[in-house]
Amino acid sequence: MSNSIWRRKPISAFEADMKKSELKRVLTKWGLTSLGIGAVIGGGIFTLTGIAAHDFAGPALALSFVIAGIGCMFASLCYAEFASVLPVEGSAYAYAYGTIGEFFAWFIGWNLILEYMMGATTVAVAWSGYFGKLLHLFHINLPIWLMNDPTTAAIKAKELGEAAPAFAFNLPAFLITWLVTAILVKGIKEAASTNNVIVIVKIAVVLFVIVVGAFYVDTANWHPFIPETVIDPVTLKESFGWDGVVTAATIVFFAYIGFDAVSTQAGEAINPKKDVPFAIITSLIVCTILYILVSLVLTGMVHYSKLDITAPVASAFEGVGLTWAVFLIVIAATAGLFSVMLVMMLAQTRIFLGMAKDGLLPKKLFGDLHPTFKTPYKSTILVGLIISIVAAVTPINKIAEMCSMGTLLAFAMVCGAVWLLRIKEPNLDRPYRTPLLPLVATLGMGFNVFLMTKVRPETWTAFLIWGGLGIIIYFLYSYKRSNLHNVDETKSNGQL
Ligand code: ALA
Repeated sequence: MSNSIWRRKPISAFEADMKKSELKRVLTKWGLTSLGIGAVIGGGIFTLTGIAAHDFAGPALALSFVIAGIGCMFASLCYAEFASVLPVEGSAYAYAYGTIGEFFAWFIGWNLILEYMMGATTVAVAWSGYFGKLLHLFHINLPIWLMNDPTTAAIKAKELGEAAPAFAFNLPAFLITWLVTAILVKGIKEAASTNNVIVIVKIAVVLFVIVVGAFYVDTANWHPFIPETVIDPVTLKESFGWDGVVTAATIVFFAYIGFDAVSTQAGEAINPKKDVPFAIITSLIVCTILYILVSLVLTGMVHYSKLDITAPVASAFEGVGLTWAVFLIVIAATAGLFSVMLVMMLAQTRIFLGMAKDGLLPKKLFGDLHPTFKTPYKSTILVGLIISIVAAVTPINKIAEMCSMGTLLAFAMVCGAVWLLRIKEPNLDRPYRTPLLPLVATLGMGFNVFLMTKVRPETWTAFLIWGGLGIIIYFLYSYKRSNLHNVDETKSNGQL
């Protein structure tokens, strides 16, 4: 068994890892909740709402948020139980390693790369959109080819009646990624308090959008609430109708990603077993309510067919003549998106670090700490390099869909794993228990897998290639280099 792909990292080894950790336990349950909300509110609500309502859901965008939110709610209840059993830093990867087995853990870790790395990439592109808007407020307009990937640049040029540029590169998305990379290499301790301020500003602006925007809602824009299905004569793709609402749910699902990042902060929580589950669930509930209200206001202020797809929230306020509000929203969005990138890239490098420590990834590349800054600088730079290039040349919806696919699968796997663990280890100490198991786990798996089936076939192809690659790397590299494998070999050689 111990040399099989189902070998598990002993709980005592996690406890030893946590004891070795030099992190200070300073985070209260509200501090953790604020981190969660900070990681969640970003490109999803500030940017993707534009495409989702404009192309797929119309005013029923609020329903898309409800659908995506339900799947996340089930997953969060399951995450919470895991976080209470194993309050460690590696998130779902570590939970799976301690409970189900190595291969399963590797596969979740592999999908979390899509969640965090592709998540940060999506947010980099969203940031660029709002940065463009900010420059515009100061009457600076960079050319389309310097602000967009080639596909988006061609679409925008066509809208302006111009020829598609021969070359296009999203320079702001590229540069912001390197700025975040530099901060992460240096260490983010100094940035932590700034991050708290950004979270407060972000929530304040979302509340502002809801309250002030409500005065400009024209209820005529909500009719019909679910626009009739439209079939594209060339591609035969359906938009709007119930199908459109569900497709939009797969897009705005991205807006919820990040509540699980709370679990990567367990090492800094004062009372992780109780407070991490609280923060995961509370941040998700708060964000769901805010999202539903923002989408109602947005589609009420502007007819969905006229929503801007690059910076929809700011453009809606511009449309009703509140230029001063645009300024506020753009500043909050640029700062807010920056903080989401910071958390996503940080979470990615921590998961890599955990996997490298366990021997599943090369220790030199992913585990080496900088001699002065004590950060995993090599992997941070590698992550920055990949994100900056992908963000510069890929359209936002394609990256967001890959991110959502990886996350949906990771969520479904966590739901299954928590149920399996109840059966395999019924007597473990569980300060928080997922209610109504196995119903909640089954619904969680069902909802998340259902949303996966609604993603475009091209994304599925890319996703299957990614999954296949992960399995090959596991068997060619990680299986033999795992710390557990080495322990087994030593044992069988009689050296222990
Ligand atoms: N939920 C995060 C966002 O919308 C990833 O930016």
